[in-house]
Amino acid sequence: MLIRDATPEDWPRIWPFWQLIVSAGDTYAWDPGTGEQAARGLWMGPAARVFVVEDGPDVVASAYVKPNYGGPAASVANAGFMVDPGHAGRGIGRRLAEHVLREAAGDGYRAMVFNAVVATNPALKLWLSLGFDVVGTIPDAFEHPVHGPVGLHVMHRKLGGAE
Ligand SMILES: CC(C)(COP(=O)(O)OP(=O)(O)OC[C@H]1O[C@@H](n2cnc3c(N)ncnc32)[C@H](O)[C@@H]1OP(=O)(O)O)[C@@H](O)C(=O)NCCC(=O)NCCS
Repeated sequence: MLIRDATPEDWPRIWPFWQLIVSAGDTYAWDPGTGEQAARGLWMGPAARVFVVEDGPDVVASAYVKPNYGGPAASVANAGFMVDPGHAGRGIGRRLAEHVLREAAGDGYRAMVFNAVVATNPALKLWLSLGFDVVGTIPDAFEHPVHGPVGLHVMHRKLGGAE
């Protein structure tokens, strides 16, 4: 398994699982019907550093890191993570997150913030185990297809210590 920086040519191999995950409507606060070009802009925008995980010939996961704010707050990062559902539960997400945390610290970011972690997302446990804290919750902000209105957590972690 290889984790590397993405190139623009990787997008067609990210898009199939990006679409699967976002169209399910249970983890990301993005329109489940987002089209391919808009999706590319959300994931691979000009300010983002994008990563992919290769498993043999397949791209099985991706992540982005970008400034969460601007100007004097630009050293706080935001990141997003997606593992192809066909490859979930194999430890790929944890390894990718550890890599991204190290790289973001190396790039000079002093902290990372997730703006909208769906309270029912099993990923919450992963982020807590990696040292993120819930700093606030927007109650009932997310209309979950199964659970109805659920909270969105804002999560935060300092960078630069032991990743
Ligand atoms: C969240 C996600 C990136 C995790 O990737 P993954 O490769 O499946 O996760 P891993 O196999 O590395 O598991 C890491 C931990 O996450 C937790 N976890 C992840 N998915 C889980 C699930 N479906 N059910 C229960 N626990 C789960 C486990 O606690 C696991 O802990 P462990 O390392 O102690 O065993 C991936 O499931 C995904 O892309 N989900 C859809 C998009 C998403 O929710 N992104 C995050 C938005 S905040």
